[in-house]
Amino acid sequence: MAKIVFWSPDPGRGNTSNTLAIGTMIGQDYDIRTLITQTQFRRPNLENAFMKAKELQFRNLVNTTTSGMDNLERLFKSKRLSADSISDHTISLEAGRLDLLMGTKKSEAHENFPSIAGAIFDEADRYYQAVILDIHSGNNSSVSEQLIQDADIVVITLSQDTSVIESYVEQKDWPDNLQEKSKIILLGQYDKYSKYNVTNIKRNFKIDDPIYGLPYCSEFRDAINDKDVLNWFRRARNAGKRHPSYSFFQEVRKISKDLLIQIGVNTEIKRIERGVS
Ligand SMILES: Nc1ncnc2c1ncn2[C@@H]1O[C@H](COP(=O)(O)OP(=O)(O)OP(=O)(O)O)[C@@H](O)[C@H]1O
Ligand SMILES: [Mg+2]
Repeated sequence: MAKIVFWSPDPGRGNTSNTLAIGTMIGQDYDIRTLITQTQFRRPNLENAFMKAKELQFRNLVNTTTSGMDNLERLFKSKRLSADSISDHTISLEAGRLDLLMGTKKSEAHENFPSIAGAIFDEADRYYQAVILDIHSGNNSSVSEQLIQDADIVVITLSQDTSVIESYVEQKDWPDNLQEKSKIILLGQYDKYSKYNVTNIKRNFKIDDPIYGLPYCSEFRDAINDKDVLNWFRRARNAGKRHPSYSFFQEVRKISKDLLIQIGVNTEIKRIERGVS
């Protein structure tokens, strides 16, 4: 139904972490079929964050030379790619709701990779209600350019550094096609006590697109390092106000809901009641 692409003009600002947080929340809170994956080479940071919960499946994949994405590429080339075959090549994180597709094991993109990746996610879009993609930062990647072109909405990771916001507003390093896309901005590792908070940034830089701060959260960082984001979300996301990560989950939940509304999901109907999952 919709391709949601997470992109940042610069590396290291929290794009993968933002993708992880929003993707996991959608997969655990909503009864829609969601695919989460990344299109970078030699950098399985996104997948690794889920390893603890799926150790067996990950162990089986260690010794193979191809990944889910590589197998789909093969199917595409032999004209056997179908919406069903895509889900068959994923690891199920939340049954029927959240599937993880392992990114390519190849070390670099070949000439046709952008158009093949585009075709694979077009097909995935027929089966999944949300296809969530963590793509390479900057404007030097032909894969990212293709996926931004194909996106229904682009979630852009920026920071609270004014130099970063200024470059963005001046459209420096924007890939082709970004201009005409629906965009929302996430300030990664957000510090709400900074003078440069969401309200001030929006006003000072005259930004029309929605902006959110995705808070810095120590436990989230630990969960990424422990490769245990899935279990940590399961355990902690509905905890009460006194929980140290309460405001993190509140924000992630709000951003996820607004994003789903933007892509046309009825969040009232699709929301899973607490305690059911
Ligand atoms: N909201 C957050 N709370 C706590 N730590 C965070 C948060 N966001 C990011 N981090 C920390 O910052 C590190 C780098 O973030 P991340 O890998 O998401 O950046 P990136 O933009 O994807 O980088 P790259 O361009 O290298 O792919 C994470 O491994 C994590 O330790
Ligand atoms: Mg990353």
